Amino acid sequence: MHFSKFLALFLLYLSVGQSSKILTVTFFASKSFRNAFDPLFFELAERGHNVTIVSPINPSQKHANIREINLPPKEIQSLETSKFSNFFERRKEKEVTNIILAGPIILDSCRQFLEMKAIQELISEKFDLIVGVGLGNECSFGYIHQFNTSLILLSPITPIFALTDFIGASAPRSFVPSIFGGYSDNMNFFERMDNLLKTTWYTLYYSWIYLPTMDAMNREFFGPETPSVVDIAKNTSLVLVNSHLAVNYPRPFMPDLIDVGGLYCRPAKPLPKDIEDFVGSAQDGFIYFRIPMFGDQDYNVRVAENKQFGLKLELGEITESTLMASIKQVLDDPKYSQTAKTLSNVFRDRITQPLDTAVYWIEYVIRHRGAPQLRSPARDLNFFQYYCIDVVFVLLSTLLASFYVASKTLKLILTTLSPKVEPSKKKVKVK
Ligand SMILES: *[C@@H]1O[C@H](CO)[C@@H](O)[C@H](O)[C@H]1NC(C)=O
Ligand SMILES: *[C@@H]1O[C@H](CO)[C@@H](O)[C@H](O)[C@H]1NC(C)=O
Ligand SMILES: *[C@@H]1O[C@H](CO)[C@@H](O)[C@H](O)[C@H]1NC(C)=O
Repeated sequence: MHFSKFLALFLLYLSVGQSSKILTVTFFASKSFRNAFDPLFFELAERGHNVTIVSPINPSQKHANIREINLPPKEIQSLETSKFSNFFERRKEKEVTNIILAGPIILDSCRQFLEMKAIQELISEKFDLIVGVGLGNECSFGYIHQFNTSLILLSPITPIFALTDFIGASAPRSFVPSIFGGYSDNMNFFERMDNLLKTTWYTLYYSWIYLPTMDAMNREFFGPETPSVVDIAKNTSLVLVNSHLAVNYPRPFMPDLIDVGGLYCRPAKPLPKDIEDFVGSAQDGFIYFRIPMFGDQDYNVRVAENKQFGLKLELGEITESTLMASIKQVLDDPKYSQTAKTLSNVFRDRITQPLDTAVYWIEYVIRHRGAPQLRSPARDLNFFQYYCIDVVFVLLSTLLASFYVASKTLKLILTTLSPKVEPSKKKVKVK
């Protein structure tokens, strides 16, 4: 009796003792981003952590352990609500896939947040962990830096090259396709060349044009001493990635890059009545389709084509006959449903559920105070050091220099020796 009471108290003490204060900062996001990671913060709250969520998007669910700081609805700047969002028009211009072009609306959204009183007041509070976003949120890094505590970054899609660069993970352009390019991981020579050129252009644009505008905003609000976005991002303990092998390609991951794709999958609830009636009354099942519009959606649909579980139709070019033909193809060719089933099994086959994985790593970083053991010194190497180009250069130069010296020496030896031989030979010949 007494013992079990003691045990209960002890367990209560343990669970309270493990409660941490977590702040998650998103200054720019889409509703789909919120949907993808909300279950994680909800679960952290359920486990007794005190979570503060800063997001431009309002929550769909409340929790006693969650404090929300949102933009007033009229100010909300997201991909869906901004001027940027005329996707039909944008798609014609072919520029919509490049999220960097959203720079001005990202800055707009950041400024609205940074000017909010609640956001400024938060800086005086202490947090055990900050969770930021590794895509389109670089202008929140100056703010995040103010808290001087451990940082975890979320990646709503397979990590962009900038993000893997921050943490020193390599992403060889030979088999890691750009999210903005058109290829699978199996590229021929010209595709590899295109992939390399596109990603190089993108990287230069990102570091020379996009990042300086973000650095400028961070320094405007937090002073000229604020470290650069790159330096703050390099300090991240971990990146949690919303992706999975079933719907992506294998690529090198460091121990601080963790796939948690599917953490938003929860046990199915019954469908709303009208949808249930519609679905249930269909004799031969029903067809659900979505169309690529922007961001990573083109990449995803290409994965679907490459892995043969879907077909792409270009939004502006759909006609009754192409739509019908595609639907027929997917319905009639059994490979599509077969692949879908196979990949579904791959997606579910894991050591732990992705939500538990994500919670585990978040608590791990808190327990190990930033978990520096996960960090590779690769983060601090420049391009030439990372690929040992400096070493190869020195070795090649040494080799060439020794060849040069050897050949010169040989020549010298020969010329010193030969005059005695040759003239005499000639003399012999002449005589
Ligand atoms: C969470 O933290 C906030 C801010 O410090 C505090 O006001 C609130 O009482 C805390 N909530 C819980 C459940 O500890
Ligand atoms: C930041 O935190 C570390 C401990 O984690 C401490 O040593 C350092 O002084 C702090 N820096 C500032 C500017 O508060
Ligand atoms: C890196 O993180 C540590 C705490 O984990 C903090 O003290 C330090 O100021 C951070 N450095 C930068 C450049 O953000």
